Amino acid sequence: MKTILVLGATGFLGEPVARKLKADGFDVRIMARSIDKAREKFDDEFEIVSGDATNPTDIKAALEGCDGVHLTVSGDAELPAALNVAAAAPDSRLERITYISGCTAVEKNRWFPLIDDKLNAEAAIKSCGVDYTIFAPSWPMEMLIRYAMNGKPTLMGKQTNAFHFFALADLARMVSTAYQSDAAINKRFVVHGPEAIPFTAALVRYCAVFHPDAKKVSKLPVGLAKLMARLMKNDLMLFGAELSGYFDRVGELGDPTEADQVLGAPTITLDQWMEQRKQSLS
Ligand SMILES: NC(=O)c1ccc[n+]([C@@H]2O[C@H](COP(=O)([O-])OP(=O)(O)OC[C@H]3O[C@@H](n4cnc5c(N)ncnc54)[C@H](OP(=O)(O)O)[C@@H]3O)[C@@H](O)[C@H]2O)c1
Repeated sequence: MKTILVLGATGFLGEPVARKLKADGFDVRIMARSIDKAREKFDDEFEIVSGDATNPTDIKAALEGCDGVHLTVSGDAELPAALNVAAAAPDSRLERITYISGCTAVEKNRWFPLIDDKLNAEAAIKSCGVDYTIFAPSWPMEMLIRYAMNGKPTLMGKQTNAFHFFALADLARMVSTAYQSDAAINKRFVVHGPEAIPFTAALVRYCAVFHPDAKKVSKLPVGLAKLMARLMKNDLMLFGAELSGYFDRVGELGDPTEADQVLGAPTITLDQWMEQRKQSLS
């Protein structure tokens, strides 16, 4: 397998995967809505093509000559992207499709629209006839940077559930390993990091290192956050509030044993990741 198309490479979870695939010797083609935006992140070592993942023609063209495709598109485009790839796959030379789902994407949670989309995307990929590897990750440690809000750490909801936070470098390594392993064919891997940490406690630990002046983590009740988001017509905040309420309710799910055996368990702890981040910022 030589050339991998990455959909969503400019995104939070997609960028480290694109870089790791490249570092591991794959040719990486990135399909992006804005070539300029993608070029700001990726040098000439990466091929960049223009396209919208919701457009079947764009997907078909981008897949030409690719042996694998990694899907890490978010929002309303996530399901159409997966359906378009699944539809184009039988007439392509694809040998593997990899897709980022989520560790709570199970039938009993289909009531939440994001999970309904993810399960429909998984079903389309599984039934398209091309080998696949699906990843169902928990929370990346890097999300703590966002919730720290430049020293005004804020969470919506209670956020007392514990999650096995993982470093994106570990996820990227696991995706790349999957492309190099027959044992990863037609598997769905739950990805949990090495330690279970209550969400709020993880954010407190992050702020203690990077925002020592931050007094405490502010908590915005989900109902109030939704009301504020609606009044401000802020769709992103509304989605964040709904997602926070969802995770308060369902917590973390899944058994990472098989992923750990086949792909190597995530090893980077929160303290190690923070140390690496401190060094990269200095
Ligand atoms: N973030 C987390 O904590 C987390 C945890 C577990 C699983 N996941 C899953 O991981 C996946 C990626 O999430 P993320 O946080 O990395 O999202 P993100 O940062 O919002 O990135 C999304 C990517 O999708 C691209 N995209 C969106 N609409 C597109 C379209 N119509 N055509 C082409 N590209 C399009 C974006 O490109 P532009 O640059 O053009 O916007 C961007 O590269 C999602 O399925 C998410 O559910 C995320």
